[in-house]
Amino acid sequence: MIKEIEDYLKEDIYPFHMPGHKRNKNFLNFNYDLYNYDMTEFSIMDNLHDANGIIKNLEENCAKTFGAYKSFILVNGSSCGIIASILATCTESDEILVLRSCHKSVYSGLIYSGVKPKYIYPVIDDKGLVIGLDLKELEEILSKNNNIKSVLITSPTYEGNVLDIKSISEIVHKYNKILIVDEAHGSHFKFHNIFPKTALEQNADIVIQSLHKTLPCFTQTSILHIGSNRVNLELLKLHLSMIQTSSPSYIFMVGVDNTINLLNNKSKELFNDYIKLLNNFRENILNLKNLSLYNNNNLDIGKLLFFINKDISGEKIYNILEKKYKLQFEMYTKNSVLAMTSVADRKEGYYRLYDALNKIDKNLDEFKDRDYKSKFNYPKSKLCLTPREAINKIGKRVDIKDSIGKVALEFITPYPPGVPIVVPGELLTSEVVDFLITNNFAQNIKVE
Ligand SMILES: Cc1ncc(COP(=O)(O)O)c(C=O)c1O
Repeated sequence: MIKEIEDYLKEDIYPFHMPGHKRNKNFLNFNYDLYNYDMTEFSIMDNLHDANGIIKNLEENCAKTFGAYKSFILVNGSSCGIIASILATCTESDEILVLRSCHKSVYSGLIYSGVKPKYIYPVIDDKGLVIGLDLKELEEILSKNNNIKSVLITSPTYEGNVLDIKSISEIVHKYNKILIVDEAHGSHFKFHNIFPKTALEQNADIVIQSLHKTLPCFTQTSILHIGSNRVNLELLKLHLSMIQTSSPSYIFMVGVDNTINLLNNKSKELFNDYIKLLNNFRENILNLKNLSLYNNNNLDIGKLLFFINKDISGEKIYNILEKKYKLQFEMYTKNSVLAMTSVADRKEGYYRLYDALNKIDKNLDEFKDRDYKSKFNYPKSKLCLTPREAINKIGKRVDIKDSIGKVALEFITPYPPGVPIVVPGELLTSEVVDFLITNNFAQNIKVE
């Protein structure tokens, strides 16, 4: 493995993807070899699962930095924080309201907890991207379902769209429910006012952020923040300690410490430089004809999503970017490619990206115009079984073409972005089966 990584590094491919440290040494701040920091929980090293010393201090520092009432460091990514939040707010006999476009870790939480989900479907824009949810529908569901204990939404989305969390939290709190926000892609929002407001600033009760996605920190480092006194902290702590490893990596925790110190000491100048570079790039790139940079009024401008107006797939453009121009993007879809930026990006990366996109744009002139508009929405499918009931059934595997009208017993989740198109327990409609076939997402599926 190490040889492959070293060979890859020799190619000098620029990282427009996570982790947000972008392999930029200036942002990781380690003085010695990494193994010197690989400790375990003896004496002064404290204990992540019952923090009383150096880890407690670091968690307090995190809470202060992000404006939380309390913060828990996560060494198993945001996924473990999301799962623990579900377990700590709902029991098997409760219901939870989930935005159906949530990341797959939310569905893992539904399965571990056995809680019955109700799904609210996202509002989609004309590019097929999630931009919000219907507030009236949210209020109607909560007013009719006393059994719902918490509401879980994702904001920002993978592509950087931010939901109206302030209005959502007002409604959720009016009905005395707990609002959990998966803010995995928004840990940098707090550090420049050009970014949307954070979920904590808009009264969310539990907020989970991946430091490693959009801030300079190691993969797997995340934080769970508490924003109110509605959450049972003892129960949350218990679930976190059951879900997370009993051997938390001190390399990760020292990484969090470094990131927090950097943010506290230098965020103003670093983020001002970052925003200058980003704005400059965004303005200059508007002259492209065949690639259009996605924009929206409530967007994380650090996400650079290009829609391809010509009849060539996102996968092909993604490969050209990597092989010919030595730029590694985060993700592609049928008609788009996504670059992730962070405060650790270097000028050189933006120059190389600008140059490559201009050349690709010119070469696209000869292609036919794209003749379809993607506007997928998650089909409002009937929930026949809870995800937990569904995964425990034996079922049978059928060709995807023969699955219409049957109940799915497994997930179908393109990755990235890791949002399931099919969740166990859902009825497979002709709309979703068509979508799976057209996009080649599945040849067969396990059904009841
Ligand atoms: C929206 C969203 N939520 C949660 C997660 C899980 O985060 P982590 O990888 O830190 O476990 C991801 C990962 O890609 C994600 O995109």
